[in-house]
Amino acid sequence: MNKITAAITAVGSYVPDFVLSNQVLETLVDTNDEWITTRTGIKERRLLKEEGQGTSFMAIKAAQNLLEKANLDPKEIDLVIMATATPDMPVASTGVYVATQIGATNAFSYDLQAACSSFLFGMSTASAYIASGKYKKVLLIGADKMSSIIDYTDRATCIIFGDGAGAVLFEPNTEGLGLQDEILKSDGIGREFLKIEAGGSILPPSEETVKNKEHFVFQDGKTVFKYAVSGMADVSEKIMQRNNLSHDDINWLVAHQANRRIIDATANRMALDESKVLINIQKYGNTTSATLPLLLSDFENQLKKGDNIIFAAFGGGFTWGAIYLKWAYTK
Ligand SMILES: CC(C)(COP(=O)(O)OP(=O)(O)OC[C@H]1O[C@@H](n2cnc3c(N)ncnc32)[C@H](O)[C@@H]1OP(=O)(O)O)[C@@H](O)C(=O)NCCC(=O)NCCS
Repeated sequence: MNKITAAITAVGSYVPDFVLSNQVLETLVDTNDEWITTRTGIKERRLLKEEGQGTSFMAIKAAQNLLEKANLDPKEIDLVIMATATPDMPVASTGVYVATQIGATNAFSYDLQAACSSFLFGMSTASAYIASGKYKKVLLIGADKMSSIIDYTDRATCIIFGDGAGAVLFEPNTEGLGLQDEILKSDGIGREFLKIEAGGSILPPSEETVKNKEHFVFQDGKTVFKYAVSGMADVSEKIMQRNNLSHDDINWLVAHQANRRIIDATANRMALDESKVLINIQKYGNTTSATLPLLLSDFENQLKKGDNIIFAAFGGGFTWGAIYLKWAYTK
C-alpha cells in the first residue's frame, strides 16, 4: 500500500467588513501612511466590531465557508483543531464551541497556541493525525481577534495587527501529494520581546494590571524583526536543501504576513522570483493564526495540483518553522 500523506483538499475564510485604514490610524496615533507602508507593507486591516463576539464568530464563518465550498457534511469531520492566540475565553476551548456550532458533532476538538506560528504548527499536528491512518478528515482553523488585545494608543503595535479567520481540510492522499517535510523550532528567549504581561498565572488580572495596560500586546519590534528575518529565512533555505529543491522547483512561498520586509528577506534567501511570493498583508495586516489560510483562500484559484509550496512562519515565544507541501487540487 502507498504511504498516506496529508493533503489540503478544501479552503475557506472570513474577514470582518470593518476596514481600519492607515489614514484613520493617522488620526489615532502619531504615525503616517508613508511610514506604515514603507516599514511594513500594510495599507489597511479588518476589525471585528460585532458587540459581544470573539474569535469563534470568525472561525465559524470561515469553517462554514469551507463546508459550503466543499459541499461537505460536517458530521464527517473527525477532528477540529483551532489555532489561535486569542481564544474566546482563557479556559473553555474555543475549538470545542466552534465544532459544535458548525455541526461537527462526531469530531473532538481543542485549541493550539504558538502565537503567529499557531497555524503552521497546526498543519504539522493535523498531518500527523491523518498520516496515522486513524483519522480521515481534520479541519484546521486559524483565527484571531487581535483587536481584542491591541492598545490603539500604542503606535508600535496598533499599525500591525488585524482580525480574520481561515480554515483548511486535511485528508489522506496516496498519490504523494500533501505535506512532504517540516522544520519546526522554538526558543524561550523570545518571551520577553513579544508578550501580554498580565492575565495569565504569573500576573493575574487586577485593577493595577488594567491601569498599567498590561493586558495588551507588548512588542520590541526591532528585536522581533531581527529574529524573524533570520529564523524564517534559515528554515526556508534548509527545507529546500533537504528536499533537493531549487528556486525553479518551487511554485509558491506562503509566508506569515507580519511585515513585507521579513517576507522579502525570506524570498531573497530562497532566490525566489517575486511572482511566486503570495502577499495580502496590504489588505489585512498581521492576523496572527489566520495569515496562512487567508493567503490560500485569496490565491486558491492560482494553485495547481502538484505545485510545490513552502509555508513559513515566525511568531512570539519565539516559535517558527517551514513546511514543504505539494498542493492536491486545481480549482
Ligand atoms: C514594528 C516594526 C514595523 C517597526 O519598524 P522598524 O523599522 O523596526 O522601526 P523602529 O522600531 O526601529 O523605529 C524607527 C523609528 O520610527 C518610529 N516609529 C515607530 N513606530 C512608528 C509608527 N507607527 N509611525 C511612525 N513612526 C514610528 C520610532 O519611534 C523610531 O523613531 P526614532 O528613530 O526617532 O527613534 C518592525 O520592527 C517589525 O515589523 N517588527 C517585527 C514585527 C513582527 O514580525 N511581529 C510579529 C511577529 S509574528
